Amino acid sequence: MCGIIGCVNDEAVAPILLRGLKRVEYRGYDSAGVATVSESVIRVTKAAGRIDDIERKYGLSTLTGTTGIAHTRWATHGGVTDRNAHPHTSCRERVAIVHNGIIENYLELKKQLRAKGHIFKSETDSEVIAHLIEAEYHQVKDPVKATILAAKKLKGQYAFAALFQDAPELITGARKDAPLLIGVGDTKNFIASDVLAFIEYTDRTIFLDNQEVVKVTNRSVEIFDMNGRSVKRKPTQVAWELADLSKMDYAHYTLKEIHEQPKTVVSAMMQNEEKLAEFVEKIRGARSVFVTAAGTSYHAGLLLKYRLERDAAIRCEVTLAGEFREHSEFVDGGSVVIALSQSGETADLLEAIREAKKKGAKVLSLVNAAGSTLARESDLTLLLNCGPEVGVAATKSFTAQVVVANLIVDNLVGSRNGRGEEVARMVEEALSSEPTVKEIARMYRERSDFYFIGRGYHYPMALEGALKMKELSYIHAEGMAASELKHGTLALIEDGTPVVVINPRGETHADTLSNAEELKARGARVIGISDEPSEVYTHFIKIPRAKESLTPVLEAIPLQLMAYWTAVEKRNDPDYPRNLAKSVTVK
Ligand code: G6P
Repeated sequence: MCGIIGCVNDEAVAPILLRGLKRVEYRGYDSAGVATVSESVIRVTKAAGRIDDIERKYGLSTLTGTTGIAHTRWATHGGVTDRNAHPHTSCRERVAIVHNGIIENYLELKKQLRAKGHIFKSETDSEVIAHLIEAEYHQVKDPVKATILAAKKLKGQYAFAALFQDAPELITGARKDAPLLIGVGDTKNFIASDVLAFIEYTDRTIFLDNQEVVKVTNRSVEIFDMNGRSVKRKPTQVAWELADLSKMDYAHYTLKEIHEQPKTVVSAMMQNEEKLAEFVEKIRGARSVFVTAAGTSYHAGLLLKYRLERDAAIRCEVTLAGEFREHSEFVDGGSVVIALSQSGETADLLEAIREAKKKGAKVLSLVNAAGSTLARESDLTLLLNCGPEVGVAATKSFTAQVVVANLIVDNLVGSRNGRGEEVARMVEEALSSEPTVKEIARMYRERSDFYFIGRGYHYPMALEGALKMKELSYIHAEGMAASELKHGTLALIEDGTPVVVINPRGETHADTLSNAEELKARGARVIGISDEPSEVYTHFIKIPRAKESLTPVLEAIPLQLMAYWTAVEKRNDPDYPRNLAKSVTVK
């Protein structure tokens, strides 16, 4: 996690760094900082808190100099304090660094450096990088060589950028298992964790490979391998529409992204026919099929499993990305592993697919971020086409995953895909539940617990509804199979407990309705999400009638809105929930 950006410009760099930082703030937002170099001095401004507040208080954008690096943090090692915020400098302030990742051997390195007289100012693992580079630079007097020598000593994951007091015309960077991209401009060049950091200025991007080092000036980009040999790589062009990141008239990105879904489900359905056919053929030809993902994407994975098994008669194992390695006994050369991800950078997921590849499996992915590590390391990728998702809680990327999963299964079984306009119209109709949902959010905002239940195809939606509620409202929420209630959780239901019952018409409808009755008899306030009203529901949220495969998309809308409006009622920031980050690039 953490977002990094570095830039070498031909005029003041700090305002550009600040704009870039705000665009990668989704990667972590507990502290932030900027370092620039000018007149042979490295100047650092950093603090705990949100970027806007730090800018207001200390003026990150006022630092002078044309070369600089910046960071937005999601704490791993060391608390959320001003000192632990990046950039970190070496003892003599000759080198400053920003880092994303985890240095696993930092204690050992720290001990060695301390023995040589280095004094540490923070509790982070990252600070060792600054000291290591300074020590190497002192010997070799060459920024690239020093960066390589330091990088070679690091174990773990890293993407870092370094600034040198006596080489103000350049920055260096290196990566291993954490993303690092180069933005190639005309009068300025960038290093960053994400293309969003520099897309306003250039769409020409170079994706660094693992264990590569880069040197960037305002007119040149040079890439090296860990032996110092030059690597030639041409920039690729990324889509400009990424630059459209305004909230428009919405109070939050999350709300905007929820409301974008009538459009984004349609763009997700626009898949290249040949690629889709190839994807489907790979699944058809596989001896075994595995699905893996994390967080909300995992819930989309559960839905994919259901459909593959029920509709296409293809047996499928679905495993949380972080658990994959421990459950990969049967993954082999005849397997296909389908990875789902918004960011394509989730560390657990990348580890899972690397494990799968090691065992000879083919990796197919559904991913939103086109140039992401997952997209580049997969054998075949279908893009979600839903545009950048800024809100930390996944919304439109989830519904995009569901419709792409549906396309895959529909193609496998040779059934007709739903028509785009029809799907968009139904999503629009589901959005009209917003006033009812808002009222429910107002009524239950003070509750300490929420439960979500569903059966069969609607069970993953109970998990997703609970996850959204936890992430955004900070209310304890549990999602479960409706059948499981009576095996324990019913003991927690008391007068007034809100329980969301996800229950559209279909084969599980009657049984789930009985569970709703059982809940009501014990005092629960039953919030029904369905196309069919019932007297058992204390509140009824209507979604349009649709064929089963589309119901998760329609159920997702009120579930997302409920979490969003509860967060707003509680005065939480729904775009940046506490303790979380959008892209979890550490294990
Ligand atoms: C983080 C985000 C979640 C997301 C999960 C998986 O935890 O906060 O919203 O579902 O990562 O992310 P991915 O990018 O792999 O879908």
